[in-house]
Amino acid sequence: SIPVDNVQALASKDLKDVPVRYIRPEIESEEVLADESLQIPVIDISRLAAAGQLGYDDELAKLHVACRDWGFFQLVNHGISEAIDAMKKVTEEFYKQPLEEKMKYAQLPNTIEGYGQAFVLYEEQKLDWGDMLFLLPLPVSLRNLRFWPQNPNSFRETLDEYSNKLCGVSMKLFKLISINLGIEPEVMGKKFDLENCTQGIRMNYYPPCPEARKVLGLAPHSDATGLTLLVQVNEVQGLQIKKNSKWVPIKPIPGSIIVNVGDVMEIMSNGEYSSIEHRAVVDFEKERLSIAAFHSPGLEAMVGPLPELVKGKTPKYKTIDAHEYVKLIINSKLDGKSLIDHMKI
Ligand code: SIN
Ligand code: FE2
Repeated sequence: SIPVDNVQALASKDLKDVPVRYIRPEIESEEVLADESLQIPVIDISRLAAAGQLGYDDELAKLHVACRDWGFFQLVNHGISEAIDAMKKVTEEFYKQPLEEKMKYAQLPNTIEGYGQAFVLYEEQKLDWGDMLFLLPLPVSLRNLRFWPQNPNSFRETLDEYSNKLCGVSMKLFKLISINLGIEPEVMGKKFDLENCTQGIRMNYYPPCPEARKVLGLAPHSDATGLTLLVQVNEVQGLQIKKNSKWVPIKPIPGSIIVNVGDVMEIMSNGEYSSIEHRAVVDFEKERLSIAAFHSPGLEAMVGPLPELVKGKTPKYKTIDAHEYVKLIINSKLDGKSLIDHMKI
């Protein structure tokens, strides 16, 4: 990949003109829907925990509709607010530090972890108005502490706790999703369990931009992974999802976790659920931060439709091993749902 400028440093220079590589002329004419009624479903996971008991199956049905028709939902009553708040705090503190301190954890050539920018594969590629710190907390055996900040000094233990708590929530969701897909509850969980789960956590920092309506913090993409759990760090909104060919801004409920279906879930469910394109816009005056956690099957797993779901049916996607799939991810730039097109039969 090609190294590019640090955006936080660039933005702090009080630029009059934003460099042309960030400007995306096409986005100004794209329709953004500010319709209050079009909001993603809200799922109460404490009600889901009681699924199977009388009176609680409606929440399970709601989860199914959320995964099938939206690919996005907000999760409330998840019970891990403390871990989330602590993680938000250390993320903000990390980004407040001087560039020099952050650069101790900079991406290296040929690594995907570290502090830096989204991958740029071509010289002419448009750039995102944002920096990130990307780490792979799970499996623990593959942790690369080289990239884990030591400042603020509670960063590592806070991330460790956050990573485990989020993995726990996603495990619960995989179980409920399995039930909703009509397969044994543990089928998906086995592919994603604590030892086998691959979890990536991406802490996004989007500085304010004088040309906020002409740039993107994160280009439109669907997540290549299984299930993403996203939290908003401050009050600045910027996540938009594509619904009926229009961009719909998400209004996060404070304290909620935004969950979205990724390409691997689309593939595993043989298209019953589908990943949804989304993007991040930035603000004119305020910085925005978010933390995305991606959950994928372990590297020993196969990526393809679950055999249980294609019995007597035609698989819509290829099955390849996880290493091959990771290669596909690394070699494709964020571009709508281009990755999954390679997997379609
Ligand atoms: C993401 O798609 O990974 C993050 C979007 C956001 O910043 O809200
Ligand atoms: Fe994403």
